[in-house]
Amino acid sequence: LKFVCCSNDGIDDHMVWLIGLKNIFGKQLPNMPKVYIVRLLMDRSHKSVMVIRHNQVVGGITYRPYISQKFGEIAFCAITADEQVKGYGTRLMNHLKQHARDVDGLTHFLTYADNNAVGYFIKQGFTKEIYLEKDRWHGYIKDYDGVILMEYKIDPKLPYTD
Ligand code: ACO
Repeated sequence: LKFVCCSNDGIDDHMVWLIGLKNIFGKQLPNMPKVYIVRLLMDRSHKSVMVIRHNQVVGGITYRPYISQKFGEIAFCAITADEQVKGYGTRLMNHLKQHARDVDGLTHFLTYADNNAVGYFIKQGFTKEIYLEKDRWHGYIKDYDGVILMEYKIDPKLPYTD
């Protein structure tokens, strides 16, 4: 089992994994248009942290780091159907937090959570209150109706992974 972070960089393995993740998002996020999923996954300003087992993608999180603003927006998050509720979602999120802090220099995450995923995000430490000053994110991410904006403040020191 391994956790990798990659973007659309043309490396064969990365491209195969990104396509695998696209298929998982396509099934697990049925309200998201598939063209939109592909557009963000393949957009070079987005990165994807993925769980890989036996060279197969089990799930992943696609996010956009806004380096100057020191926050990241999580666009998509899913684990393949038959591997859910086994702890992969939590381990994935911990790898994302570690990578975002240590590689991207981020202090916060924002995400628009689906109603049914709010419980998962709360378990990962996200809040429905937004403490991040609005001028740090306003204009960078879109405002949507009907979805819940949630925030996570990355701990500056905590070891998130072993
Ligand atoms: N609602 C409430 N609690 C949840 C949910 C949920 N939908 N999913 C998992 N949990 C809980 C688990 O019970 C567990 O609790 P515990 O620690 O007390 O045992 C904890 O959250 C972590 O569970 P994991 O096993 O680590 O989570 P999993 O591997 O299943 O991944 C995920 C969670 C990503 C939400 C997965 O279930 C999934 O892919 N769901 C369908 C797609 C989805 O809803 N994605 C998020 C959409 S929002 C967005 O993408 C920005």
